[in-house]
Amino acid sequence: MDILNELPEEKFNQVDDLLAFVSIYDDQARLEAYRQMLNACRDKLRGQVCLEAGAGAGVFSEWMARMGARKVYAVEVNPLLCRLARERLAHYPNVEVIQADIQNFKPLEPVDVLVHELFGQLLYDEDVLALENLPFQPKTMLPARARLACGCVPASRLVDTTVTPSVLQQLEGVLVSGLFDEEGLALTDTVLTWQPGAVQCSVEKDISHLSGELLYFGLEIWFNGRPICRAGECSNWSYVWTPRAGNRFALRFEPAGRGMQVRFAWLD
Ligand SMILES: C[S@@+](CC[C@H](N)C(=O)[O-])C[C@H]1O[C@@H](n2cnc3c(N)ncnc32)[C@H](O)[C@@H]1O
Repeated sequence: MDILNELPEEKFNQVDDLLAFVSIYDDQARLEAYRQMLNACRDKLRGQVCLEAGAGAGVFSEWMARMGARKVYAVEVNPLLCRLARERLAHYPNVEVIQADIQNFKPLEPVDVLVHELFGQLLYDEDVLALENLPFQPKTMLPARARLACGCVPASRLVDTTVTPSVLQQLEGVLVSGLFDEEGLALTDTVLTWQPGAVQCSVEKDISHLSGELLYFGLEIWFNGRPICRAGECSNWSYVWTPRAGNRFALRFEPAGRGMQVRFAWLD
């Protein structure tokens, strides 16, 4: 979905994010993984103060209310998504929808469980870092582990009449999501990991042991010692591709005006 007419910048950004974030609800595998995660934590949620950080349309907040949370804060920075969440959650007296950046939100009571899905396709390219700067300390964060991994495949396996070898050549040094519709690729090598309080936003990675002319990255979200969402299985996260131009690369994430800046370069 693209916005086609001229709009004031603020309005454009709000609607652009709205369109991006409503489309994540198409990903049934993602929703089901989160539903199962929350269900497995039902006893932790019941009677507790819960918070959805980056609530979007408030689906997880609704589930937590239904699972018996005593109080749910649904915190969402985008005013248009906040409106959607308010509509969805209007009939839950114990759910409060708050339009705020999670980094500025101070709940009136201690938060027992914080639920979030702030992962980008490259792990740190959305807003998971906001969780490092919370003005409160939740007892439990769900999920609390993710990794960005990579692998290589022969280009001959994937090139077609649209993305030809010549097209690929033009993409050296460029990370492109969704370039191919491949599914189920092995995420053999860890590139970066995330855990609350243990972020790793920069890496130099040696891939000389991998064979194949196409490098791909894929995200994995973990719960209870196993991946629950994965690029290639959950449509919300596609593989990110780039033609291989060496055996070592650097990947770095830096906060930018809006979102995160991703820097990628081949080292040799
Ligand atoms: C990927 S969506 C997830 C929505 C919902 N939690 C879900 O998983 O269905 C991320 C949401 O977080 C919001 N968001 C991103 N950074 C935020 C921040 N710092 N504070 C509050 N909301 C934020 C975005 O506007 C977006 O609606």
